[in-house]
Amino acid sequence: MNQIVAETGTPVYIYDAATVERRYAEVREAFPSFEILYSMKANPSFALVGLLKQLGAGAEIASGGELHLAGEVGFDPLDVVFAGPGKSDRELEEAIVAGLFAINVESFRELARIVRISKLVRVPARVALRINTSAGLSRAGVGSAGPLHEQMAGGPSKFGIDEEKLETLSRFLGEPGIDVVGIHIYTASQILDADEVVANAERTAAAARHLENLTGREIMSIDFGGGLGVPHYDDERHLDLSSLGARVEEVFAPFKKQGTRLMIELGRYLVSECGVYVTRIVELKESRSERYVITDGGINQFVRPVLMKVNHEAAVVNRLDDPPVLATRVTGPLCTPIDVLSKEIEVPESTAIDDLVGVMNAGAYGYSMSPQLFLSHPSPAEVMILDGRVVTIRRRGEYGDLLRDQEPLPGSV
Ligand SMILES: Cc1ncc(COP(=O)(O)O)c(C=O)c1O
Repeated sequence: MNQIVAETGTPVYIYDAATVERRYAEVREAFPSFEILYSMKANPSFALVGLLKQLGAGAEIASGGELHLAGEVGFDPLDVVFAGPGKSDRELEEAIVAGLFAINVESFRELARIVRISKLVRVPARVALRINTSAGLSRAGVGSAGPLHEQMAGGPSKFGIDEEKLETLSRFLGEPGIDVVGIHIYTASQILDADEVVANAERTAAAARHLENLTGREIMSIDFGGGLGVPHYDDERHLDLSSLGARVEEVFAPFKKQGTRLMIELGRYLVSECGVYVTRIVELKESRSERYVITDGGINQFVRPVLMKVNHEAAVVNRLDDPPVLATRVTGPLCTPIDVLSKEIEVPESTAIDDLVGVMNAGAYGYSMSPQLFLSHPSPAEVMILDGRVVTIRRRGEYGDLLRDQEPLPGSV
């Protein structure tokens, strides 16, 4: 770590390719009948997405920008699906023209827009219906699945078509150029309870049969989401993937037999643990019996701990051999009290200025989810450890970047 930071400086995101490869291989082995789609939103780094493509993943995208990235990385459009509740006409047109395997429609109004655009550009569109099932997680809000905002189905939702409204599909079935290929269900993220994942799978299988009844033909594809979580607290454990995979495979076995394409879409499970966000201590402080380390990067670059109210393990990574004994709050340099990377960790007594604090589980929803312009710090670098080498995959920003695309007040400079 010291050597990497000596070369790249701080703050820096460091991603370990071998960890991604390991996670991918586990999923590949546990879900042999499923295509693995990488949910780009978790980390749209060009290099990381490229690595996942190399490993064999397809992509689940959620914007025109991610569609563009998918094209640049070189995904076969037939390995890409496009979900998201507010796709613009432009994004829909681009997706139709690109010939993606499926646009996952989130409302019948969106489906009507796809019909109209598909006619306009004279390109047929494949769609899958994203369904908001009537039931969601049975224990929403438990553990680091956290507040309900990690749940996306099973109640009123901006995502998907309410299951009970599915019959409306009949209005669209005769439309030339529109092929309803399957369903998509995404119940929640950060699930660490295998029974919940299996319950999702069962709900998805039931919805797939429902769709078959409506269309009168066998379903071509089922994307059952995934939502597999990663542990954030001492009392949380990884899912036992091989037993979970076997249970999910069993649920979908009849569909596999009839040749249905089965998909699982994952973001954090594949990339969260590969990443560490490394900052440098610029100040040490004691105030009214509380200790602080103040680092050169904060929630402007890694907002997850406060945004999602979830613990991210942190440590003084250049002193791992010294016993951590002093309870300390890790804060960034921002002028706001919410700028806290870790509310309390133990640090060694020897902790000093210029030491490095690593925040773990930073490979997902880190760089791209954070409000990097707040306080105008240059953006952090990103590097990947790949086959024993350290490769820069995004250069550190500069002050000049902050003015890019802006115009000064006329006549002021
Ligand atoms: C539709 C959909 N698929 C996949 C994901 C990826 O979730 P995760 O990173 O938890 O695997 C999300 C996350 O918001 C999502 O909304």
